[in-house]
Amino acid sequence: MSLTRFTPQAALLMAAVLLAGCSGPQRVPPIEVWPDMDRQEKFKAQSGTSLFADGRSNRPPVAGTVAVGHLKEDAIFSTGLENGQYTGKNPVEVTPELLKQGQRRFNTYCAPCHDRTGQGGGIVPKKAAGWIPTNLMDPRILGSNDGELYNVISHGRRSMPGYRFQIVERDRWAIVAYVRALQRSTLGTVEDVPTELRSELR
Ligand code: HEC
Repeated sequence: MSLTRFTPQAALLMAAVLLAGCSGPQRVPPIEVWPDMDRQEKFKAQSGTSLFADGRSNRPPVAGTVAVGHLKEDAIFSTGLENGQYTGKNPVEVTPELLKQGQRRFNTYCAPCHDRTGQGGGIVPKKAAGWIPTNLMDPRILGSNDGELYNVISHGRRSMPGYRFQIVERDRWAIVAYVRALQRSTLGTVEDVPTELRSELR
């Protein structure tokens, strides 16, 4: 059809034909010239079947399958343990970005109880009398290994719950680094300031 013969009537007719395909639910299925893959035999999730001996249509993953992002290649990184002992040093390189991330995560996940300075005056203990978060400036925490802090964050300790399901491993190490920075800044003394800058202190 050339453009000159494309009349308004023809346009209306075409629109009517095309729009007819947009009608509501049909009782009689339309004729399928090319069914493509509209209908296939399949199992609905969680449905039963006699096809497999265990009667389940969902198949268990092949033994040894690891979900994407869950490969634990580095035992120290994922457990905080080195030869069965808490590792002494954060396995993640401490950079300003890591500390920033640690600060974000600490303020989200730890501050409600331990408060933003880590001294234990968060909103939760204010409401839950008797539930006392440890002061992270305590000499015992100061002297603990990075791996032990990582372990407390992951699995909790006594009345503190673990946060391994909420906080990914790298972020847990970022929090460890940030707690160390909080300790350094809170417990800093004049000795930490270079001699030539001490005169500028007020
Ligand atoms: C829901 C409140 C709560 C949150 C959130 C919380 N803590 Fe705690 N935390 C506690 C309490 C309570 C204790 C004291 C546990 C006890 O001795 O029974 C504690 C103890 C600790 C200890 C000392 C463990 C020891 O050796 O005795 C560390 C370290 C610690 N928390 C770090 C963290 C860090 C880091 C986070 C953030 C990932 C965090 N906590 C989040 C409540 C909390």
